[in-house]
Amino acid sequence: AHLNPTMEEGAALRPAACRAKGGAPGFKVAVVGAAGGIGQSLSLLMKMNPLVSVLHLYDVVNTPGVTADVSHMDTSAVVRGFIGQQQLEAALTGMDLVIIPAGLPRKPGMTRDDLFNKNAGIVRSICEGVAKSCPNAIVNLISNPVNSTVPIAAEVFKRAGTYCPKRLLGVTTLDVARANTFVAEVLGVDPREVNVPVVGGHAGVTILPLLSQVSPPCSFTPDEISYLTNRIQNGGTEVVEAKAGAGSATLSMAFAAAKFADACLRGMRGDAGIVECSYVASEVTELPFFASKVRLGRGGAEEILPLGPLNDFERAGLEKAKKELSESIQKGVSFMNK
Ligand code: NAD
Ligand code: LMR
Repeated sequence: AHLNPTMEEGAALRPAACRAKGGAPGFKVAVVGAAGGIGQSLSLLMKMNPLVSVLHLYDVVNTPGVTADVSHMDTSAVVRGFIGQQQLEAALTGMDLVIIPAGLPRKPGMTRDDLFNKNAGIVRSICEGVAKSCPNAIVNLISNPVNSTVPIAAEVFKRAGTYCPKRLLGVTTLDVARANTFVAEVLGVDPREVNVPVVGGHAGVTILPLLSQVSPPCSFTPDEISYLTNRIQNGGTEVVEAKAGAGSATLSMAFAAAKFADACLRGMRGDAGIVECSYVASEVTELPFFASKVRLGRGGAEEILPLGPLNDFERAGLEKAKKELSESIQKGVSFMNK
């Protein structure tokens, strides 16, 4: 039961014995929320990824068109579409990686937390599907507010008895992409040469760029630090305001999610030395979840790396971040215990 039977029609014209074996080796990946602003571009980018052999596109609306469209790209991944709750199980069965950009985006004047009431339930029902149909899949969770939706997902998996902290990753790659871009603008270099660790969480003051740990090593004036920290923490709001009611970041987010998913897939393949920032279950601070550099491997976040030395400004930022994060985590956990 999927939405592009045309694929099977072509294949059915020849007897199996007369057809090439086909089927490139690779991972099975699902995009949940595939017809949305992020979902469409992300589906395009995942169809371009040579590590993907099967790409399942799921949404509650509009998946047939997105599926037909993406399936005509002449890259190796086989694309199948699924629509509505009754097809969630088929969409998720057998998946190695599930990427979730489902849920409402912000409008001007809203915080990410204002999305909680709508998106908490969406994330819960999708994660219940994951627990049932692909309990060993690695999950990349994009839906906001990430600081609360990751704890919600963890609670769902705990209840289902499938929770493995290594396999649940909140996507904060866009914060790193923004930090790299804005730092490169200040330095006058190519952003691809810059790597800024961004730790904490994914909302306002919880987004903590570690400008003292930029690679390659460089130093900033107090004015530059203040400008960069502000711009990185408010990057999402900058896009929400520029879109003026038409949503939040979708294109840069799809790019960031595709980059993060590719890093996960390379880790799953066994590549060494894959390190990305992500919001995960963590013992780096006293909080149960925290974003920091993680080493990605066959089982997901194999190792959570320490924060490294912070300067006074960053230590003060960390205290502010922890206060807000703690409340957002508690809100997610309470939602599941209601
Ligand atoms: P959008 O409204 O364009 O798309 C969301 C899609 O989710 C829609 O197609 C909708 O039909 C689908 N959806 C709703 N309920 C669903 C369900 N139960 N199952 C499957 N799909 C469902 O929104 P968008 O701009 O693509 O943003 C999606 C989410 O990502 C928002 O919550 C947004 O805040 C968040 N976001 C996170 C980051 C990040 O850095 N983590 C960045 C940008 C956006
Ligand atoms: C972002 O950082 O762009 C996303 O979290 C979307 C938003 O609401 O800002």
